[in-house]
Amino acid sequence: SVLEMEVEQINKGKYEHYMQKEIHEQPESLTTTMRGRLIRGGSCKAKSVLLGGLKDHLRTIRRSRRIVFIGCGTSYNAALAARPILEELSGIPVTMEIASDLVDRQGPIYREDTTVFVSQSGETADTLQALEYALENGALCVGITNTVGSAIARHTHCGIHLNAGCEIGVASTKAYTSQIVVMAMLALAIGDDTISSQGRREAIIDGLFDLPNKVKEVLKLDEEMKDLAKLLIAEQSLLVFGRGYNYATALEGALKVKEVSLMHSEGILAGEMKHGPLALVDETLPIVVIATRDTCFSKQQSVIQQLHARKGRLIVMCSKGDAASVSVGGSCRVVEVPVVEDCLQPVINIVPLQLLAYHLTVLRGYNVDQPRNLAKSVTTQ
Ligand code: G6P
Repeated sequence: SVLEMEVEQINKGKYEHYMQKEIHEQPESLTTTMRGRLIRGGSCKAKSVLLGGLKDHLRTIRRSRRIVFIGCGTSYNAALAARPILEELSGIPVTMEIASDLVDRQGPIYREDTTVFVSQSGETADTLQALEYALENGALCVGITNTVGSAIARHTHCGIHLNAGCEIGVASTKAYTSQIVVMAMLALAIGDDTISSQGRREAIIDGLFDLPNKVKEVLKLDEEMKDLAKLLIAEQSLLVFGRGYNYATALEGALKVKEVSLMHSEGILAGEMKHGPLALVDETLPIVVIATRDTCFSKQQSVIQQLHARKGRLIVMCSKGDAASVSVGGSCRVVEVPVVEDCLQPVINIVPLQLLAYHLTVLRGYNVDQPRNLAKSVTTQ
């Protein structure tokens, strides 16, 4: 109806699509996600995090033998992005489960496990079924959702809300970045405040405070990503290579491209390059390589060289100022992004790929907010 259309326009504000609006509002959604939860520290107080919904369960979580992340789609990818920092700060083994696969296998879940259910909607059928299964097995169940009162929020023992605001575009964008931030805060909350980890913890907390500004900065790549989309508009396929903290970025970037622009796209763990993906490389297939600064940087430089030697069409994402050291003599297209603490870099690196997916879709003439055959919340199996 006319009224519905008008309400929609008001909700979208100055933007043409919800996905576009949600990508651009990430500086604000991240701010509300962190509000009241980060403590700057005073003269004698250390910087720390406060997660009200977890405080009565932190001791149990710290004593658990294993942490199991469970989710579907983008929510799974967000957990994958947070896994390294959770392992580092907690010292507890962290494993990953796609909800449907855990249920299919009836994989072992024990009383000594902490299971973390990640779901934007809090209503995904597979995730809910995995939750029932974990409850039956006696595990502590933690929920991370964006929807107060959702089934997953109600049925878990405790949890953290994203507070990212309502997400309408079927392709998840702002919920993804808020999920990573919430799980980084979870890692800080679980991790011991030992002298040896203090510098690292403070750097992460400072990084979190500054993250909305850095996201504002990376959003300035909008036009550049639109130009890149114009270049890729007629391609059949796009590969995205990542590793370490940004393995998840590769999977999530590829998921964004395929679900909205309907272009085949695959996220590839760069360490697996020689075990198959290298066979696909030729002078026509476009490949995004994520090579921002972290402990994997030199390995990614060598991946770039090897892809280049096979005449790969490379688009390299690197840290600001690194263009010369990644572009093999200026032969690759380069996207420079602002630098943040390594474990938070996935929040920055996904943004250009969200923008690329958005522009590709609009240029190809598809419905960006409601992709063919997909639903925002999959409540049936
Ligand atoms: C659907 C949506 C995705 C979402 C996934 C998991 O596939 O289209 O955007 O990532 O469900 O949803 P959840 O609400 O559990 O995060």
